[in-house]
Amino acid sequence: MPLETESKVRLRALVAEFRPNNGDLLAALHRVQHEFGYLSAEAMEVIGDQLGLFPAHVYGAASYYEEFRFEPQAHTNIRWCSGPACRLRNGNGIRDALLASLGIGHMNGQTEDGRVGVILGQCNGACEVAPMVWLEQHETHMIEPVGNMSAARAVRMARALRDGATIEEATNA
Ligand code: FES
Repeated sequence: MPLETESKVRLRALVAEFRPNNGDLLAALHRVQHEFGYLSAEAMEVIGDQLGLFPAHVYGAASYYEEFRFEPQAHTNIRWCSGPACRLRNGNGIRDALLASLGIGHMNGQTEDGRVGVILGQCNGACEVAPMVWLEQHETHMIEPVGNMSAARAVRMARALRDGATIEEATNA
């Protein structure tokens, strides 16, 4: 069975319980993103089919919310905390060190091989160990918070991930 068809079957099964005119759009978008890591054009078509909406309507709604992504995610993302406590403790220096050591030109970008990305994060209340980042792997649903960061540690961690380290190895780098 071609890959395209397999993913469509998987998408249809994922959203099968959702119904038109039932306020299910956001829940369907979340479920698909949780499973695939992003919302592809194909996913929005399948969600639209299920809910009786045009894909453009699905995309319009999804693009309103910052949490939805429309491109495949990097294998491992470093989520950088943009909150005030982290910024007071050299958060911007950590961000710049992450981006520079990975050769990524902008926030929410990723390395050319898709191995590591740096994405924008928000304060989650763990400010006592600011500055924070979180290492996240969509495939395994693993999230590892790393507090008390420094720019030097950010560089070591980013390089380790770039060179194929696991999240555990990278946090100990
Ligand atoms: S500001 Fe970064 S964890 Fe609160």
